[in-house]
Amino acid sequence: MRIVNVPLGTRSYEIKIGPGLLRDLGRHCAALKLGNRCAVISDRNVAPRYAKVVQASLKKAGLQSVLITVPAGETAKSVKVVEQCYDALAKHRLERKSFIVALGGGVVGDLAGFVAATYLRGIAFVQVPTTLLAQVDSSVGGKVGVNLKAGKNLVGAFHQPRLVLCDIDTLRTLPIREFRAGLAEVIKYGIIYDSKLFEKLETHLPKLLARDPGTLESIISRCCEIKAEVVQQDETESGLRAILNFGHTIGHALEAISNYGKYLHGEAIAIGQVAAARLSVRLTGLPAIDAERIHSLFTQSGLPTQVNLSNQQYARLVRAMSLDKKVSRGEIKFVLARRIGQVEFGCKVPPRLIAEALSRG
Ligand SMILES: NC(=O)c1ccc[n+]([C@@H]2O[C@H](COP(=O)([O-])OP(=O)(O)OC[C@H]3O[C@@H](n4cnc5c(N)ncnc54)[C@H](O)[C@@H]3O)[C@@H](O)[C@H]2O)c1
Ligand SMILES: [Zn+2]
Repeated sequence: MRIVNVPLGTRSYEIKIGPGLLRDLGRHCAALKLGNRCAVISDRNVAPRYAKVVQASLKKAGLQSVLITVPAGETAKSVKVVEQCYDALAKHRLERKSFIVALGGGVVGDLAGFVAATYLRGIAFVQVPTTLLAQVDSSVGGKVGVNLKAGKNLVGAFHQPRLVLCDIDTLRTLPIREFRAGLAEVIKYGIIYDSKLFEKLETHLPKLLARDPGTLESIISRCCEIKAEVVQQDETESGLRAILNFGHTIGHALEAISNYGKYLHGEAIAIGQVAAARLSVRLTGLPAIDAERIHSLFTQSGLPTQVNLSNQQYARLVRAMSLDKKVSRGEIKFVLARRIGQVEFGCKVPPRLIAEALSRG
């Protein structure tokens, strides 16, 4: 098992990464003195697989738990489901000295985290991420929230978990498409922060795709370390944290114009990152050969790297980019790379270059 610290003063916590960790959850929660009662929030795919071992582990440590199961998928990140969770917590008399366990992917983490941030003005929560995306990204950093009809993640809070437990064994049952989508965030960390990680991915990709436990443990730990370092320097996203959005300006817009149906988030940001790499060659001096390496790593991971948009779709894409909440004063700003492992944020990009960067194969 590896441990990554997230040092945020009184809100500091540990991320534990390794095999078989679900069985230790109760012991860790008891050691942290989070309370004697908790609710495990999970979804309809994850609960049948993993809730039993989680609840047994809590029980063994003397902690009482109730299971709240929500629908699987993005629709669960809604105010309606939040209300259903509040009602279930109240019904089971969870008090201030109780806690919530988020057992599932990023959807469950964001939803359960938001419930924990707001129920009784905030109670403790523990993240037990079961997708690759959630283990390397959404479970770390304290951003929690739900969607509105008007857009994704429009309601939310910063609420740090007290512990993140990444049991890599849970990734064995993750559908391959979801696993690849998580890889898009893994590759992102290499591009924005760590050229050695990028090289390691180039060498060890087959082992990673085969979900080799040792490779998973070391790569996931490195990604968590990077996210922790970035979050530590900018907890509430006023500056540096923007680098985590490499590939996301275009990615979010693609998700929005396809009504969050065609692409998984990881697929949309794979396309976005390849386009951002090409823009970086033009605007921030990324060597063309590095843009090619980036393209190739995404291709080998089985992720999409291009879209063919009609003029009308392209106009919608640009509009969606200007509506993104990360846009300030109407300008579309990008995170671009100077080289693999180093990026800058707040780069202005003329829209005509975006079209060009997207449409090449
Ligand atoms: N808070 C943040 O900082 C942050 C960062 C990135 C993404 N997010 C959010 O994360 C969400 C996406 O998360 P996700 O990609 O994990 O999606 P998800 O939670 O919907 O999980 C993907 C699918 O895999 C299933 N699943 C999960 N774990 C499984 C397992 N071990 N075995 C089998 N099936 C399993 C789920 O039921 C679901 O159907 C989005 O809502 C996004 O906004 C948040
Ligand atoms: Zn992302």
